[in-house]
Amino acid sequence: MQQISQVAEVPIALGERSYSILIGHGLLGQEAVWQDLRPGNAAVIVTNSTVAPLYAEPLRQALQRRYKVVHTVVLPDGEQHKNWQTLNLIFDALLGHQCDRKTTLFALGGGVVGDMTGFAAASYMRGVPFVQVPTTLLAQVDSSVGGKTGINHPLGKNMVGAFYQPHRVVCDLATLDTLPPREVSAGLAEIIKYGPIADMAFLDWIEANIDALVARDPVALTHAVRRSCEIKAWVVGQDEREAGLRAILNFGHTFGHAIEAGLGYGEWLHGEAVGCGMVMAAHLSQRLGLMDAALVQRLTTLVARAGLPVRGPRLATNNAERYLELMRVDKKAEGGDIRFVVIDSPGRAAMRGAPDAVVAEVIDTCCA
Ligand code: NAD
Ligand code: GLY
Repeated sequence: MQQISQVAEVPIALGERSYSILIGHGLLGQEAVWQDLRPGNAAVIVTNSTVAPLYAEPLRQALQRRYKVVHTVVLPDGEQHKNWQTLNLIFDALLGHQCDRKTTLFALGGGVVGDMTGFAAASYMRGVPFVQVPTTLLAQVDSSVGGKTGINHPLGKNMVGAFYQPHRVVCDLATLDTLPPREVSAGLAEIIKYGPIADMAFLDWIEANIDALVARDPVALTHAVRRSCEIKAWVVGQDEREAGLRAILNFGHTFGHAIEAGLGYGEWLHGEAVGCGMVMAAHLSQRLGLMDAALVQRLTTLVARAGLPVRGPRLATNNAERYLELMRVDKKAEGGDIRFVVIDSPGRAAMRGAPDAVVAEVIDTCCA
């Protein structure tokens, strides 16, 4: 393989499904980044109407040196389009171009494009190779890594999908230059998450560098993306299909998914809902006697400094009941009992049930 300039490589060890996460500036246009992928004639870039004009052409040019044909599929942009109808646009294009089972899909975009492209790759002809090329901070630190793919259902977030690992993840930090500030904050939510669940030293580092991260300082961003990917690779390497440990990556997500579904997908960004959800999950951990008030406050302050909401939205007049109803369709729920990721000591997370009355109190405390 030709030398790739200025790249960090984080391995993800999953036996025959192992792959590398490449992190660096200006990777998209580097020929060597794409050189030794699976053999095949065709590449299909799946992207959306916002990202296509920014990055599809440089990627297409780089891939053209490696593949005989390169097609591009442009999806509508937005969480509200993460559904069957949009997924079908990918299959329409693959079949329309007579793509064979050696075709490699390239997911160029944020988590929405990545999750849908991964699901399309998992199911087209029962599985074709795919590469994640995440262009949002959130996708670079979380969604592109670990092989969770899927779409939303009107009754629940990410309810239809598959575990299907990419063959490579290419995080080009230069693509973050065009990201709207609100999306940078959304990505910071998933970065902050890794501190309380796995690495308190990283939480200290994020606190010390939060202003630099918000300002997109390249050195700070490189460290944050790399450390986040290392932690995620460590978790996924031990529990690829979420038999247990991997659920800790959903800290804040049970409340967050209820916010997203309750408000309607796309109203709050996923990262905003997760940021606020972490504050709610921290309060719950405190109510269960697991987390001290000082750490709850520390986390709340950090989430706010990242530019994220810390008060939950009201979803209905019977607000707590509505949250509880939505949280019962969470994937972690067992027989209708909601399971929460809580912090049981700093840097360590666990799964717990909680009485509805306690959860309702937390919702009342945390909602606007
Ligand atoms: P997104 O994919 O909607 O992207 C956010 C916005 O930024 C979109 O409008 C997009 O077009 C735009 N955009 C993307 N790259 C850009 C760039 N470089 N410059 C300018 N604009 C750009 O949202 P997201 O936050 O990336 O991902 C959220 C999704 O990821 C949710 O659906 C969530 O469920 C999913 N997710 C999945 C996993 C997983 O493990 N698979 C983990 C976390 C989140
Ligand atoms: N974002 C949660 C997971 O990948 O498991």
